Amino acid sequence: MSYAGRKWLLDELPASDSGEAALFRAPGRVNIIGEHTDYTGGLVLPTATAAYIWAAACARDDRQVCIKSLNFEESQTFSLDDLEPGADPDWADYAKGVAALLQRNDIALRGVNIVIDSDIPIGGGLSSSAAFEVVVATALLEIASARMPAPQLARLCQQAEIEFVGLHCGVMDQFASACCERGHALLLDCRSFEYEHVPLPETISFLVTDSGVRHALPEGDYNQRAQECGKATEILSQHISRLVSLRDLSLEDLEMHRNTLGDRLYRRSHHVVSENQRVLDATMAVRAADIEKLGKLISTSHRSLRDDFEASCAAVDTLVEIADTCDGVYGSRMIGGGFGGCVLSVVETANTERVMAKIKSEFQSAAGELPWMHIVSPADAASKVSYP
Ligand code: GLA
Repeated sequence: MSYAGRKWLLDELPASDSGEAALFRAPGRVNIIGEHTDYTGGLVLPTATAAYIWAAACARDDRQVCIKSLNFEESQTFSLDDLEPGADPDWADYAKGVAALLQRNDIALRGVNIVIDSDIPIGGGLSSSAAFEVVVATALLEIASARMPAPQLARLCQQAEIEFVGLHCGVMDQFASACCERGHALLLDCRSFEYEHVPLPETISFLVTDSGVRHALPEGDYNQRAQECGKATEILSQHISRLVSLRDLSLEDLEMHRNTLGDRLYRRSHHVVSENQRVLDATMAVRAADIEKLGKLISTSHRSLRDDFEASCAAVDTLVEIADTCDGVYGSRMIGGGFGGCVLSVVETANTERVMAKIKSEFQSAAGELPWMHIVSPADAASKVSYP
């Protein structure tokens, strides 16, 4: 849907005379490669895509934040003077966390009415949660007439998710939503926070297919993987003095300490170390528009996530197999936190429609329903939307 078409969201706001209403949007992200590397200070190569969380917002005269989600068909209100994480976090806690962290950073927030709507499937691996945090932060800042550099805003939103929702996530999703540029991927070093915009060749397209599977407790498995990486780091640092995070580990050193780690922690570490290298190799393949090389790296990434990191699931593996049997697909893999969600396929742009039709029909024969599909359209970062 075009953003001019979203103007109607403003009409969902309660009437207010406390200032002009404004429309904001933050894109979802599709990670080309570099999965489960961000929280160990590794490398990632996501792009923002033109599927958005939208927010219409206007100031209030009091200190209340009244937020309505059209997707959850629910409204919640909290006070800017009482921002504590809930015992059983739900969607509004992401917003509460963002407000709390902005205030902690000395931003003088105003009360606000916000209405949220989403193009992004919730919990599907395109990071609707980071886009939600980023759009709320962008709206709250604008209404408070305040500014914050995008990388700082991204890290603030990540911290809000850790503290208020309890997901020990990395910073990739928030960075993609807050810092990407149209037509580019973002090569991000999650240790130094340095980043570079990498132009995406128009001959290569990325297709996203939703498996439709939602893990009941994704945070549990995700946090467990993060803990396993932490444990491996702790053990290895007793043997390799310069090692602070898995980013410092080479495959040679890993092999040398294989027995010390034991099978499970060895495989987790092997995924992370090899995935960091794949990010660098994939960046070169993207720059050279080498679709075959890129496709191979994407497929290797999936096998590594499936076998070493054990972050995939049967439905997603089946979808990857279906996509890979389609003529014109160069490689596919699970994206995002895993345990369900979406699959990314690399295709030649000229073949996109044909491949899409084939994946749809194969998926329908296997699963009995049509999947949600999205052609990645590398988008600009979150912003206030101007409309005619
Ligand atoms: C989720 C997290 C990210 C990242 C990915 C896996 O999307 O929010 O920080 O760890 O999983 O790569």
